[in-house]
Amino acid sequence: MRRQLIAGNWKMNLNRASAVALALQIVEKADGCPRADLAVCPPAVYLEAVGKVVAGSRVGLGAQNMFYQLSGAFTGEISGEMLRDLGCQYVILGHSERRNILGESSEFVNRKVHAALNLGLTPMVCVGELLAEREAGDTAQVIRRQFDGTFSGLNAEEMLRVIIAYEPVWAIGTGKVATPEQAQEVHLQLRQLIAERYQESVAQQVKILYGGSVTAENAGGLLSQPDIDGALVGGASLKAEQFLGIAAQARDTQN
Ligand code: 13P
Repeated sequence: MRRQLIAGNWKMNLNRASAVALALQIVEKADGCPRADLAVCPPAVYLEAVGKVVAGSRVGLGAQNMFYQLSGAFTGEISGEMLRDLGCQYVILGHSERRNILGESSEFVNRKVHAALNLGLTPMVCVGELLAEREAGDTAQVIRRQFDGTFSGLNAEEMLRVIIAYEPVWAIGTGKVATPEQAQEVHLQLRQLIAERYQESVAQQVKILYGGSVTAENAGGLLSQPDIDGALVGGASLKAEQFLGIAAQARDTQN
């Protein structure tokens, strides 16, 4: 049995006041979603302000990225230690927008995954295929390649502390959500890849979230799949009602 997690990736949106207001609305209504773990991932510059709002509540705090070095001459970068200092529990790594717009490779993301785990942060690590890759029938191959590269060198104890987010790139911000069956197929593949590399008991414990155009309207079908353990929500996480509407449909995953 895996407890579902609904995490909001606010991306590069909101300002300080609206970020605080959104966090407040979510904290105030979080008790209405007792079956979901909740987390919000605001822009780095608002982590401190949002962190103060969610402190002591059921809502976890996550960052959207980090660098793998602890400190030093890395202009513009933010270390995992800094994120911990601000009270973050989670950090999104390898989001497709970073892979595709900012050129992050799986090898680069892998260094961050190791660094996050060494600091006791829970990485939410994204994988997912492009539309052209899906249309060419290459989805399984792309997912395997990203899995192998991104999770290289992790032992079983570390893998157990990772959260995977399957985010098909064609579904992100497009309104074209994957069908529950399409998502379930890849989630099952990811679980089989974990079982292959580690063992079945590890695979059964790792949370695998779905991301890409999740809304309160389509969440029910996705969250009832046997291998979907929650959602990483972009656009709909900017509205408390939508976000909580998704979280209200969470239930423990059993398979
Ligand atoms: P949307 O929910 O806006 O499609 O974004 C998904 C996403 O990228 C979450 O990380």
